[in-house]
Amino acid sequence: MINIIVAFDKNFLIGRDGKIPWNIPEDLHLFKEKTTGNIIIMGRKTFESIGRPLPNRINIVISNTLKNSSQIKTDISFEELCKKEIIFSSLEEGIKFSEKFIEENHLNKDIFIIGGAKIYNEAISKEYFSKLCISHIKNEFSGDTFFPKIDLKNYKKIIEKDFKEFIYCEYENLFFKK
Ligand SMILES: NC(=O)c1ccc[n+]([C@@H]2O[C@H](COP(=O)([O-])OP(=O)(O)OC[C@H]3O[C@@H](n4cnc5c(N)ncnc54)[C@H](OP(=O)(O)O)[C@@H]3O)[C@@H](O)[C@H]2O)c1
Repeated sequence: MINIIVAFDKNFLIGRDGKIPWNIPEDLHLFKEKTTGNIIIMGRKTFESIGRPLPNRINIVISNTLKNSSQIKTDISFEELCKKEIIFSSLEEGIKFSEKFIEENHLNKDIFIIGGAKIYNEAISKEYFSKLCISHIKNEFSGDTFFPKIDLKNYKKIIEKDFKEFIYCEYENLFFKK
């Protein structure tokens, strides 16, 4: 399953100066819980802002300026692939590789598109996701990077959970093309 996972405030704000505008440990914990053991796909700037591959996840980075240091194959173990970030020059290639890896190795793993704005925009406009996992941040913040202004009424809410500083919801994309 391809998921988009994101935290945004009431104005769809996601970033400021290359970082996340808030510090909410409970949301980071939820992000870790959802993505660990799975495949994450991110833009080069988000990867650089995290600063390292996140552990126990396959870290796919979309970039035209970074390159892999060696050839990437799908016939190696999940643990081996988690050791270093894997670069692709398009979101399609990153998704295709992930799906091939999951299928060939008969794995039960999800793909999470984890941002930033450039990658979210492409995934939303091309409908490359079956589920949206959104932390709706309760406070308003200032910043410079936004999630596309989608109308959530177009998606079917399947989970809602209230936390102190955010409400976590999952929405099904009924228009998923795959
Ligand atoms: N609140 C949240 O949930 C959340 C989540 C993630 C990120 N963020 C925030 O979002 C901000 C970063 O977002 P951003 O939009 O500036 O950057 P981004 O999407 O993380 O990365 C953009 C870069 O990714 C590569 N890229 C994107 N689309 C591509 C494509 N189709 N083909 C090839 N390369 C592609 C390019 O790298 P090259 O220039 O190397 O070619 C591009 O410069 C930060 O503030 C971050 O903290 C927030």
